[in-house]
Amino acid sequence: MAKVIAIVNQKGGVGKTTTTINLGACFARKGERVLLIDMDGQGNMSRGLGCKVKRSQYTIRHALVDILNGTDVDPMKGIVPAKFDPLYIMPANKQLSAFGSSLKSEPEAPYLLRAYVERLQWSFDHILIDCSPSLGVLTQNALVASHSVMIPVDPEFFGVEGVEQITSTMNDVQRKMNPELYLEGIVIVKRNNVSIAKRTNAENLRLRYGDKVYKTELPSSVKASEAHAHGMSLIKYMSWNHLARAYDALANEVLANEQQ
Ligand SMILES: Nc1ncnc2c1ncn2[C@@H]1O[C@H](COP(=O)(O)OP(=O)(O)OP(=O)(O)O)[C@@H](O)[C@H]1O
Ligand SMILES: [Mg+2]
Repeated sequence: MAKVIAIVNQKGGVGKTTTTINLGACFARKGERVLLIDMDGQGNMSRGLGCKVKRSQYTIRHALVDILNGTDVDPMKGIVPAKFDPLYIMPANKQLSAFGSSLKSEPEAPYLLRAYVERLQWSFDHILIDCSPSLGVLTQNALVASHSVMIPVDPEFFGVEGVEQITSTMNDVQRKMNPELYLEGIVIVKRNNVSIAKRTNAENLRLRYGDKVYKTELPSSVKASEAHAHGMSLIKYMSWNHLARAYDALANEVLANEQQ
């Protein structure tokens, strides 16, 4: 049965998409069957894995509309292999954001992605959901559909309070819609080593969240955006790069936690 992890942070540009792609790619290299779902209308994850979404293409929005309308379709419809990495993606484009806004009045709105994911649970070992920088209805769908939540944090701009906003949304979803939901872990993304504020924030996060903060921290590398521009994971593009190796170590930590 697939383990489903949502990658969440309402702050933009903290490394959600890069983490989804690279964690997924590291899992896939270890023999796991991996599906990445793009729940962000920016479509960065799809593009970052070489998938240029055509206007007529069946995307996650179509799948959610089919669920909403009760249309019976093949659950694998629209899922495509990444161009270079041995994993699968359910792409998105900007129509997803408009769909999200139109959903607000539907009582079943928060449950659509969960219904979709349930139909795929025997086809994959890991399903990772890349979320948009918001805690709106699309991210709510991801929280309802997931077993757990991973939060990438850039402690330069985001400390304990920022993470608490996310965990409070998580607790809300847990209470009302997904009692099993738990915090998978917090991963510190170190984009700039020198700032004192950042060091304090990182230390405070470790004090507050203890072993929920991964030992592995993600260093800065210009190769992250280079790999993205080439439509492949960093581990595929340059497996010896220090950030690629950190992602591999993070994948090992996540898998080790799952064995416990
Ligand atoms: N460890 C890193 N070192 C250097 N650059 C990075 C690192 N991680 C991500 N980046 C780059 O930073 C930018 C933002 O990263 P990313 O798209 O993963 O963030 P995001 O949280 O998904 O953003 P958004 O909220 O807009 O979806 C990208 O250009 C990416 O290539
Ligand atoms: Mg993103």
